[in-house]
Amino acid sequence: MDLFEYQARDLFEAHGVPVLKGAVATTPEAAFAAAESMGGRVVVKAQVKVGGRGKAGGVKLAENSEDAREKAKAILGMDIKGHTVHKVMIAQAAPIESEYYLAILLDRANRSFLVMASVSGGMEIEEVAHKTPEKLAKININPNVGISAELALEIVRKGGFGPDVEKGVAEVLVTLWQTFVAEDATLVEVNPLVKTSDGKIIALDGKVTLDDSAIFRHADHEALIDHDAADPLEALAKAKDLNYVKLDGEVGIIGNGAGLVMSTLDVVAYAGEKFGGVKPANFLDIGGGASAQVMADGLSIILGDPAVKSVFVNVFGGITACDAVANGIVQALEMLGAKATKPIVVRLDGNNVIEGRRILNAAAHPLVQQLDTMDGAASRAAELAAK
Ligand SMILES: Nc1ncnc2c1ncn2[C@@H]1O[C@H](COP(=O)(O)OP(=O)(O)OP(=O)(O)O)[C@@H](O)[C@H]1O
Ligand SMILES: [Mg+2]
Repeated sequence: MDLFEYQARDLFEAHGVPVLKGAVATTPEAAFAAAESMGGRVVVKAQVKVGGRGKAGGVKLAENSEDAREKAKAILGMDIKGHTVHKVMIAQAAPIESEYYLAILLDRANRSFLVMASVSGGMEIEEVAHKTPEKLAKININPNVGISAELALEIVRKGGFGPDVEKGVAEVLVTLWQTFVAEDATLVEVNPLVKTSDGKIIALDGKVTLDDSAIFRHADHEALIDHDAADPLEALAKAKDLNYVKLDGEVGIIGNGAGLVMSTLDVVAYAGEKFGGVKPANFLDIGGGASAQVMADGLSIILGDPAVKSVFVNVFGGITACDAVANGIVQALEMLGAKATKPIVVRLDGNNVIEGRRILNAAAHPLVQQLDTMDGAASRAAELAAK
């Protein structure tokens, strides 16, 4: 999960990363009040989960509280790269002398963590990385060792920081590492990290991505979820404890086991090429012990997706045998009744397949058709979706 800047600011503050005062506002009046409490001179910042806010006009300096109200009025409701601004952050204005860049991220390719540091931070960092990559130091971090004060200093020097700021920046890097580890983040980025005219080092902008798979370790992360932005079908699936990811195609997919579902997506996408580019509409793994209730929950979520034109149920019977799955499908369709409206292609194989197929044939539900092979079933589902 990506955080809003104000949420990142709060996390930074909690872990001792130096930040300035910041408050969220959803109305110009609230922006005025927040600016008043900070002494008037503030920066009004669009809170959207996308980069380049400043260049898009979403970050504006306000000279006083009245000005903050006007700037907030202009920024609230703005569209930045397809994201509507619903909130602004009112941040104390810093007297900036230099802008730097610091980031810690999960480096999947190298199976470690990576620190990136540069004295040339600010809104042009992408340009810097592209045109003068030597100005962006990249250092891999051994996860078992982490970032000590000594290593931080070494990294900061590699990033070209001068003797006047290297100690201060290294201290910030250590606190960022602590934030990264303690919060199970996959990205912590500060751009810009600034030196103020009175020599302080402060994080003025923060981007944080938290590892969703670690959310069970962080009761407080639940509160950071942006429910307004969540896909309604994904939210429904989550409430039912289903492993569901919305995709942008037309063939609803249900399978048992993540590997089988992944390959089902591939097979459907491939088959769909023959039918005008039909694609899978979702990932849904109902897991090993799929009961009728789980099947009904899964089917009802998929059938509730207006983009879905057909459904492909692809099950390989293992510990849960095909007859149990077939009974689950029959009962699920009974539960759903008139809510089931789209053709369902079922491919059963594996443990007790003969009995499973017999059960489905005997039920003879008008929406259900069976095919024996995965390719054949994928092709039929794609064909039905294309109609
Ligand atoms: N509190 C502040 N005080 C003074 N100047 C600020 C403050 N916050 C931001 N700025 C200035 O505005 C510029 C852009 O701000 P910021 O980095 O938050 O947005 P951005 O980088 O454009 O957005 P994003 O990081 O989403 O791409 C900064 O580089 C800095 O010069
Ligand atoms: Mg920035």
